[in-house]
Amino acid sequence: MKILWFFVCCLCIALSHVECGLYDGFKIYELATTNQTIGDGLDLSELSRNESFFELYSISGSPERMMVHPKAQADFLQLLNIHNMSYTIVNHNVGLTLLTEFITNSLLRRMYPYQGKLGTERYYSHAEINRFIEDLAKQNPTRVEVKTVGRSFEGRWLKTIRITNGDGRANKNVILVDGGFHAREWISPAAVVYAIGQLVNNYSVHSQLLQDYDWVILPVVNADGYEYTQLAADARLWRKTRQPSSAKCIGTDLNRNFDFHYKETGASSNPCEEAYAGPRAYSEPEAIVVRDLIQGLADRGKMYLSVHSYGRYILYPWGYMDQLPDTWQDLDEVGRAGADAIKAATGTVYQVGCSTQLLYPAAGASDDYAFNAGFPISFTMELPAGGDNYFNPPAADIDGLVKETWVGIVAMARKVIEKYPLN
Ligand code: ARG
Ligand code: ZN
Repeated sequence: MKILWFFVCCLCIALSHVECGLYDGFKIYELATTNQTIGDGLDLSELSRNESFFELYSISGSPERMMVHPKAQADFLQLLNIHNMSYTIVNHNVGLTLLTEFITNSLLRRMYPYQGKLGTERYYSHAEINRFIEDLAKQNPTRVEVKTVGRSFEGRWLKTIRITNGDGRANKNVILVDGGFHAREWISPAAVVYAIGQLVNNYSVHSQLLQDYDWVILPVVNADGYEYTQLAADARLWRKTRQPSSAKCIGTDLNRNFDFHYKETGASSNPCEEAYAGPRAYSEPEAIVVRDLIQGLADRGKMYLSVHSYGRYILYPWGYMDQLPDTWQDLDEVGRAGADAIKAATGTVYQVGCSTQLLYPAAGASDDYAFNAGFPISFTMELPAGGDNYFNPPAADIDGLVKETWVGIVAMARKVIEKYPLN
C-alpha cells in the first residue's frame, strides 16, 4: 500500500511539472463572429499580424478561432474587451492536447499494427503506406502496379500506385490523385489510402470507374514533412517540406513551388513563412515528382485531384488570378457532382468554386499547373476541419471522413467519365 502511495505521489509531482513543449500554455479562443472584419472594427488579419496571435484559417460559416501565446493572453483579452467581443476558450493548453494526441497515436499504433491492411482506426506512417501499396501490387499483379517515381529531400521513396481493371488495354484515360502536399493535413493521405483500398479491394463494386480509365495515385507527396509531424508532438503543425531554406528556417510550401505564374501572388519570399515559395521554382524534389507525373499523363489525364485539408471546398482554377477559365462550367459541373453526392450521403456541405474567389489567390500550385498542362478537370479538395486546431481530426473521426470523401471522389469520377469518354 505504501508503495502504491509513493507511486501516486511521484506521478502527481511529475504531472504538475509536465512541460508540454513549444505550444505549452497556448490557448485557442473562439470568437463570436463568422467573418473577417468584425464587431466595431476589430480586424482579425490585423490581429494575426501580432506575433503572439495566430489566426486559424477560417472556415466559412463557422466562428473564427485564434491561437494565442501564453504571454499574450492579457493583451488579447484586453483587445477583445475593448471591442466588446465575446468569446469562448476551446482549448486551454494546445501543448497538452498535442502531447495527448501524440501518446494516443503511439498507443493506437501498438494496438493496430500493420498487418497487410490499412484500416481507418488510426493514422499511418509514410513507410506503412508504401508497404501497403506494395503489398497490394503483390496480391493483385494484373491490376496494380507500383512505381518509384522519385525521392524526397531526406531520401524517402515516393511511389505511385497505378490501378487498372487488368484487361491490358493501353492508353486509357487517366485520373491522377495525390495527397499529403502539406505535412500536417493527416486526413488527406488517410482519404487517399481509403480510395486506393476501395478501387483495388472493392473492385467489383467500382468496376465502372476502371472500364476506360486508369487511376494513378501518389498518397503522400510531402513524405518528409508528413513523417516529421508524426515524430514529435511539437512538430504536429508543420506544413512545409524539410529542406533547409535559410540559416534560420526550414522548408518550402510545395504548393507554391510550381513554375506556373511562380510567386506572382499569395506566395512568400520569406523562408520563415508558411507559404514560402522556395528559392526558385522546383527547388523541391517532391514538386519535380508531381510535375513529371502531370507532364507524363497530360495527354490522357482527364482529372487531377489534389487532396488537402481543411475547409470543405472543391476548388478549381485559377488560383493565381481572379478570372475563371473559359471552361469553368465543366469544372463547376464536376465539382458540384462531388459536393451534391457528399451532401446527400452525410449532410456535409462543400462549397464549389474558383480557388481565388472562394479561398485566396495563391500562385505556383499544382492544380493550376495540371490544368494548364492539359487536364480538363483539376481540383484541390479541402476536406473538413477536425479537432480544435482544425488539422487534427481525432482518430475516431477518420472512418467517417474518408468514407464521405470517397463518396465525393466517386461522384466526380463518374461525371468525368461521362463527360470525357475514351476516344
Ligand atoms: N490550401 C491550399 C493551399 O494553400 C489551396 C490551394 C488552392 N489552389 C490554388 N491554386 N491557389 O495550397
Ligand atoms: Zn494543404
